[in-house]
Amino acid sequence: MHYEHENPETLHVNTLPSRAYFIPFSNEQTALSGEREISDRMTLLNGDWDFAYFPSYAVMPDTIEYTDTIAVPSVWQLKGYDQNQYTNVRYPFPYDPPYVPAENPAGAYRRTFSLEKREGFRYQLHFEGVDSCLYLTVNGTYAGFTQVSHSTSAFDLTDLLISGENTLEVLVLKWCFGSYLEDQDKFRMSGIFRDVYLLERAGARVEDFTVRTTLNADGAEVSVALETVGGAVDPLLTLYAPDGSLIARQRASEGTALPVRSPMLWTAETPVLYTLVIQTEDEVIAQKVGIREICVENGVVLLNGSPVKFHGVNRHDSDPKTGFIISQEQLIRDLQVMKQHNINAIRTSHYPNAPWMPELCDRYGMYLISESDVESHGVVMLYADHGMNLKQRFSLIARDPMFEEAIADRVRLNVQRDRNHACIVMWSLGNEAGFGPAFEKAGRWVKAYDPTRLCHYEGAYYAQEDCDTSMLDITSRMYPPLTDIIDYFENKRDQRPLVLCEYIHAMGNGPGDAQNYQELIERYPGFCGGFVWEFCDHAIDGGHTADGRQIYHYGGDSGEALHDGNFCVDGLVSPDRKPHTGMLEYRNVIRPLCARISETDGSSISLTNRMDFLAADEFAGLRYELVQNGKIIQEGSLALPHILPHQSAQLRMPFDVPSEGAVLVNLFYHTLADQPLVPKGHLLGFDQLTLREGRVMPALPKRQESALTLEETKTRISLLGDGFHYSFSKITGLFDSLIVENREMLVAPMAWNIWRAPTDNDQYISVEWVKAGYNEAQTRVLKASAVERNGAVVITAEIALAAVFRERIATIHACFTVNRRGEISSELTVQKNGDMPFLPRFGVRFFLPKACDQAEYYGYGPTESYEDKHYATRLGLFKTTAAENYADTIMPQENGSHYRCDYVTVTNAQGGGLCVLSETPFSMNLSPYTQEELTAKRHNYELEESDYTVLCADYRLSGIGSNSCGPELLPEYRLDETDFRFSFQILPVL
Ligand code: GAL
Ligand code: MG
Repeated sequence: MHYEHENPETLHVNTLPSRAYFIPFSNEQTALSGEREISDRMTLLNGDWDFAYFPSYAVMPDTIEYTDTIAVPSVWQLKGYDQNQYTNVRYPFPYDPPYVPAENPAGAYRRTFSLEKREGFRYQLHFEGVDSCLYLTVNGTYAGFTQVSHSTSAFDLTDLLISGENTLEVLVLKWCFGSYLEDQDKFRMSGIFRDVYLLERAGARVEDFTVRTTLNADGAEVSVALETVGGAVDPLLTLYAPDGSLIARQRASEGTALPVRSPMLWTAETPVLYTLVIQTEDEVIAQKVGIREICVENGVVLLNGSPVKFHGVNRHDSDPKTGFIISQEQLIRDLQVMKQHNINAIRTSHYPNAPWMPELCDRYGMYLISESDVESHGVVMLYADHGMNLKQRFSLIARDPMFEEAIADRVRLNVQRDRNHACIVMWSLGNEAGFGPAFEKAGRWVKAYDPTRLCHYEGAYYAQEDCDTSMLDITSRMYPPLTDIIDYFENKRDQRPLVLCEYIHAMGNGPGDAQNYQELIERYPGFCGGFVWEFCDHAIDGGHTADGRQIYHYGGDSGEALHDGNFCVDGLVSPDRKPHTGMLEYRNVIRPLCARISETDGSSISLTNRMDFLAADEFAGLRYELVQNGKIIQEGSLALPHILPHQSAQLRMPFDVPSEGAVLVNLFYHTLADQPLVPKGHLLGFDQLTLREGRVMPALPKRQESALTLEETKTRISLLGDGFHYSFSKITGLFDSLIVENREMLVAPMAWNIWRAPTDNDQYISVEWVKAGYNEAQTRVLKASAVERNGAVVITAEIALAAVFRERIATIHACFTVNRRGEISSELTVQKNGDMPFLPRFGVRFFLPKACDQAEYYGYGPTESYEDKHYATRLGLFKTTAAENYADTIMPQENGSHYRCDYVTVTNAQGGGLCVLSETPFSMNLSPYTQEELTAKRHNYELEESDYTVLCADYRLSGIGSNSCGPELLPEYRLDETDFRFSFQILPVL
């Protein structure tokens, strides 16, 4: 039995020194294809391997019987072994380093392959990713051990392999010493999860190389530092231009610096790549080269001398069916979704991705913060704190000599492997692992080894006074409130640029505060941007329900005892990469063009190009719509002027602004030409400018006036007109029946409404809401009476809302006037108890007939919108249905509201229904589900539709924010007024 996996002194046994990633080819033509699978020097060993699973390494038999087969790559939890488990911070095993549980699940893999050994060549076996560690046996002989799940490990097997049949046995353990440094917020999965291959290497060869590019007065220089082994080689270096033409060819002995005149520079907006070919007698290596320079000057991050902003996301390797296994096609799809939503940067949270990932980012144009496989977050959950503050507790492992070499090793493995990629602009030392000598050393090593990039580590936030963080080029924070950012730049205690390596937590319905952060990113030159947490929801495919609904499992759904619920479901896209409304929001918040009115008559707009490198007319076109009272009265396209990056220009609008009604201009920006992942005509974003304020009212036929009769009993007030019969309940203080032309509009009584199904971002405040009884408020009508006035009936009522055992939440003074056409005007004056938390919402709820589910509204749409999350939407006249209006999240919650509505009409297929409109814009929600149902259910596939169509009309609905991990909802987005008025009308629609 081997116990290297619990020994901090044996991180690796017999592995080759780590090197830059490349695949050798036997000739230039195949090397230039960039497709490694066609290299005759690479034998991919993916496929079905013999397999045996043992729940406990400690009691594994000496002789393994391989009873099963398993796919390589895969994770065994998704192949029917072991158990799925999602935990965030807490270690899923006792904290007792360097030991891990004896009951350590083990997967034994075996495969044979045949080889024709060639004299003088070396044979190297490469593993690109194995979680958590492996023992390798070759033809029955123990060959070595390695760990660090997300880094490449290689073994030279030349002396163990024979010509003919060879057998590889790989024993993978679920936990090892390294697991203490892999406490990332993720499903914990195990196995050989990335490619495995054998490389045939020439004896005398280029073993490793570093490409650097520098800009100078003459253009640029591509320099290559070569490391050769196995004998004398004088590599031939060739540099090809992006169009394939030859730029330089020379022997390394003649010099390894290749000058490039008038270089085309690489940026995410202009991902032009040169090709370097390194040729020795027996091998050819091709490397794409992006010429670019990144640095910090005067506290500003500059790329090729120009300020650059990162509109980033954090991305984990994850897929609902395959777990950690990501194919190139899947990654390209992710990059496509990102590019189509204006995202230009990825933080590889929280470990290096597959080695070909930076190649694709070079090709498609995506900046990377490349992160080392280090996280030890779980130390903050230990029982005893020994009087330590959070900084000290967080840094327990970072300050422990036992981990020093392991941390350094992981940082080196990341930087060494990926250092030849233009896309990588920052190295990250890891995530949430505190700070201490280990990180000082690792950071200093990074700066010495690769001074051409920035060094990043958010964990420096936990540095104590005795620590040196000067090797970090940038200050990194996660989820700070806006005030911290303002303080950072206004008080300049630190001159370094600021990046938010995580912000606007995209869990569930959210994030709500993207625009607020974006304003600061634009305000401060030193604020180089942020990375949304996170790109995708993580969940496990659980098949479908009988009625065909997709089932996704999150923490706890696999029966695991320790888990963190749905905290893994916090992405901008669903597990199968469907953009959530948060993604649409982010796309428009970071749109590359931005307009505002520059002349008061609205005839001219000022357009700003927010790209960092391309001029506006190089990438975008504009389509405008002039809209009056919700109807397009003129539209057309405009060519954009040559607006340089970060510059603005005036644009004269080809129309006169009508002098009546609500007038808006919508400006849609779209791509001019096909790009590899973004088609021509793709919407990059839009602006809506208000040229004339005004309310938009529905065109409803006026009903005939008729005489009204009023009847009153102890419990109700009845109103009878020609063709309508209304009943007002003295128990609820609202109407409980509205019959128009013999059709009941209220299939259940109207209700006062202060609750909403808590969003993930409400998870902290909703505890207070429940304490205050907002979820179970009862209505008590204190007074209600009706009088006839000028042919109309005026009902006044005083209503109290309160929950059992708690004091009053609100007092409502209501006045409902019903006129001779059957139109109801409601005037509410509300006093809210100032001692209680802000309200989720305030309004009324209608339970309409199920068939009454077609809506038309004038408000922010077509997707859901909130006070602080409406930048993906615009004011307009929209049609929807209760079903279409539902915005799906795996964990049910408030969704589908529309901010700033003038009216909403809800009708059945025959056009009968009701209309709610207001003098002052209100929030509207139409749903097939009740908020109680959305509150109660834990998964979307469990939702049961209401028997009614539920319509909410709210004075206000509190904003969304991102408090699931970020700061509290900003005060301006809270419904916290203690005195307010809400007036609205209810009109029958025939
Ligand atoms: C951060 C962490 C991420 C993730 C996020 C919450 O603290 O770095 O890995 O856990 O919080 O979703
Ligand atoms: Mg963490």
